[in-house]
Amino acid sequence: MEASPRRVEHQLTDKGYVPVYTTAVVEQPWDRYTAEEHGVWATLFERQRQLLEGRACREFLDNQARFGISSTAIPRFDDLNRVLRAGTGWELVGVEGLLPELTFFEHLSHRRFPVTWWIRKPEQLDYIAEPDLFHDLFGHVPLLLNPIFAEYMQRYGQGGVKAHGIGPEALINLTRLYWYTVEFGLIATPEGLRIYGSGIVSSKGESIYCLEHPAPNRLGFGLERVMRTRYRIDTYQKTYFVIDSFEQLFDATQPDFTPIYAKLAASDAVPAGAVLDDDRVFHRGTGEGWADGGDV
Ligand SMILES: [Fe+2]
Repeated sequence: MEASPRRVEHQLTDKGYVPVYTTAVVEQPWDRYTAEEHGVWATLFERQRQLLEGRACREFLDNQARFGISSTAIPRFDDLNRVLRAGTGWELVGVEGLLPELTFFEHLSHRRFPVTWWIRKPEQLDYIAEPDLFHDLFGHVPLLLNPIFAEYMQRYGQGGVKAHGIGPEALINLTRLYWYTVEFGLIATPEGLRIYGSGIVSSKGESIYCLEHPAPNRLGFGLERVMRTRYRIDTYQKTYFVIDSFEQLFDATQPDFTPIYAKLAASDAVPAGAVLDDDRVFHRGTGEGWADGGDV
């Protein structure tokens, strides 16, 4: 029998207007995946692996291969956890879908990554508004095997718990950091720009667009710059921020953010598509095809 997720309410979140699910951790109902669901995994897995060779960063591709996953079937969380626990001490926990922010942060702060157990429908191969198993598992899990990125993610969770206590403005600043790094980050390599963001690697269209299209800006990462910058949830990004290394990202996010939140509260947010005078510009976007308004 086909299983369905347990939604509790709809909420406006950083992912748009989407359902928020029960906060419970659930067992992955692996035996109940249908042939059609394994087929969706197979199609997406093969398509993205092929597309990402030469586009995703080496750490992503190599680490993903270390899990031994393939197009044959939806992976079992238990199998992935054996690799992950031994590698960096992280573990995956099954969830019904998008979690309330504080619950999400608490998981990360304990090195638990919540993975949605259900996968999108065949008609949603190219776009789904809320994170599903393919996004969470294919997109997020590989870099959890990178020791520096693994540490960054845990610190992010701890920072999230703290920001939650400070207030909504602080949370907005912090969410932008996650958005422009974990979800939509690019990294500079000797071979050129490469993708590490999960929101990109799990999207066929954006995997090409973010690197090859002339429209978006590609700008050097700066902590405060990113925390000030609004973003898109309904279109491809207008700006991608480029890190030089995961060490750079980790080091930049070590200071206590409390004084940064206070400073940013006194300044205006930067529109998603803006280029500022002191930006390090890898590529100045042409802006073609951009929608007006709609920055979050
Ligand atoms: Fe995500």
